[in-house]
Amino acid sequence: MSNIGSYEARVKDFNWKMAEVELGYGNNGKYNIGYYCSDRICEMGNGTKAALTWEGYTGETKQYTFDDVRIYSNSFATILRETGLEIGDRICVFMDRIPELYISFVGILKMGGIVQPLFSAFGEDALVMRLEDAKTKAIISTRKHLGKVRRIRSMLPELLWVIVVDAGDRPLERGEIAFSMEQAPKVDTIEIANVGPETPSVLHYTSGTTGKPKGALHVHSSIVAQAITSKWVLDVRPDDIYWCTADPGWVTGTSYGIIGPWANGITQVVLDAGFSANKWYAFIEKHKVTVWYSAPTAIRLLMKEGLEPVSKHNLSTLRHLISVGEPLNAEAVIWSEKAYGKPFHDSYWQTETGSIVISNYPGMKIKPGSMGRPFPGITAAVLNPKTYEPIQTVGTVGLIGLKPGWPSMFRMYWDNKETYDKKFHNGWYICGDRSSIDSEGYYWFVGRDDDVINTAGHLVGPFEIESALLEHPSVAESAAVGKPDPINMEVVKAFIALKPGFVRSDDLTMDIMNYIRKRLSPLAMPQEIEFVDSLPKTRSGKIMRRLLRAKEWGEEIGDISTLEND
Ligand code: WT7
Repeated sequence: MSNIGSYEARVKDFNWKMAEVELGYGNNGKYNIGYYCSDRICEMGNGTKAALTWEGYTGETKQYTFDDVRIYSNSFATILRETGLEIGDRICVFMDRIPELYISFVGILKMGGIVQPLFSAFGEDALVMRLEDAKTKAIISTRKHLGKVRRIRSMLPELLWVIVVDAGDRPLERGEIAFSMEQAPKVDTIEIANVGPETPSVLHYTSGTTGKPKGALHVHSSIVAQAITSKWVLDVRPDDIYWCTADPGWVTGTSYGIIGPWANGITQVVLDAGFSANKWYAFIEKHKVTVWYSAPTAIRLLMKEGLEPVSKHNLSTLRHLISVGEPLNAEAVIWSEKAYGKPFHDSYWQTETGSIVISNYPGMKIKPGSMGRPFPGITAAVLNPKTYEPIQTVGTVGLIGLKPGWPSMFRMYWDNKETYDKKFHNGWYICGDRSSIDSEGYYWFVGRDDDVINTAGHLVGPFEIESALLEHPSVAESAAVGKPDPINMEVVKAFIALKPGFVRSDDLTMDIMNYIRKRLSPLAMPQEIEFVDSLPKTRSGKIMRRLLRAKEWGEEIGDISTLEND
């Protein structure tokens, strides 16, 4: 029997108060996520239970109990306080998937800071944009990434401290602090910041079509939704070994790679290494993973390697498989049944929603290719794009809309009320995705309603790429669009018009690609560059990305006049 039991009964009975009670949220006036992810688990008698089993790329492993997480996060909270940081200050975590990343996340929350997770592969431009916007006060990082931080430091007057968790005795510069989680004096108890349910907790940056990346701000009570969805969708149980393959630089890696599992006192495993089918299967086998939360791109990579590596490993511990981030092809669901004897369950949500909002549930009928049905407590609809009224006809495509009010919904875009307000129409939050609903209430994803590129489950904003391209000496103008890719769903393709005096060449192509990889990230790097004389524009001079995109996808372009008025 799954945790959720009868979906219909849950939908009928659900209210968020129940989820609060289930977590004990607000008991004794405690609302801090940091407390619920560590101290509370220890208070319930699970202090000696493993919270995190970590494996690095060399095969080295480390294990931390909930008591370790409690004590080490206290140490982080203490050092942050000692440097003068206060409730509400933005503190960035900028690390590979090392134990310190997970534990400092809890520590920042305990002292009341707002955690700003940034993907460790981000380059200088990507970093500056997000740190400037959030007026970040401190960064927790490692030697490996310190060079990037140092090079942008002078551009960030608000940045007071850089805490280096693996500096040892190496000399540091002014404003940098060496802090070793395991060597620092153990702090058994601290005063956990007395936050309320609406106190900001996590600030995740996400990309849109236009403008800079936006910081989706979450609050401490988000844990109520993250904990109950972990229980009902991911089906986590006390004895599980849970593996979320996402990096905490992205929302899946925090909502379901830290908060959800730890709020439920679940042991999680982390692999800080690149992908290979054999490595992943060996990891599952070695750690006896039972619940596995991954993404379509990874599943397609595994499919590509076929059944042979599967047969070489004992994967019989796997009980429940879930996927997120991009459309999960029907073939992938069917293949996973064949390969693992279990189907992947698709789940749909966003940085802004903070927790799963539409999903396939354990023990229930899966329709391969469908995202499933709304989580109990979430009112969803497919809306007419002109009137924003729910579409009643089965199978008609419209915009996914959600009724605001669930605990993990973002509360604002940092310092950007205008863009935030634009996400609401007629009392609905508009996700920006198109879908239809079938006669049984299952959602079928169609596509995004904007120009954002989804590559391997990560959103990349065309504006950010185009802005960086313009900084390259040869580029006069450019357009970045998603081009179909058999593994990553989409990859970035850039159309570039060169400045006079520059000549198209393979060397220039490589140079531009590398430039973007370094300035932004490997994800944002165009996999293909097409040099053009000029780019198609609307009458008002806006580049018609959609036209270029349609060409890449072999789609009908349709009536250009609507694009021209965009
Ligand atoms: C966008 C959100 C949710 C955590 C990871 C991404 C796309 C997400 C699915 C799915 C089709 C999906 C949507 C969404 N997306 N899940 N199951 N099927 N598309 O968070 O970076 O904010 O991206 O990812 O377009 O809006 P994010």
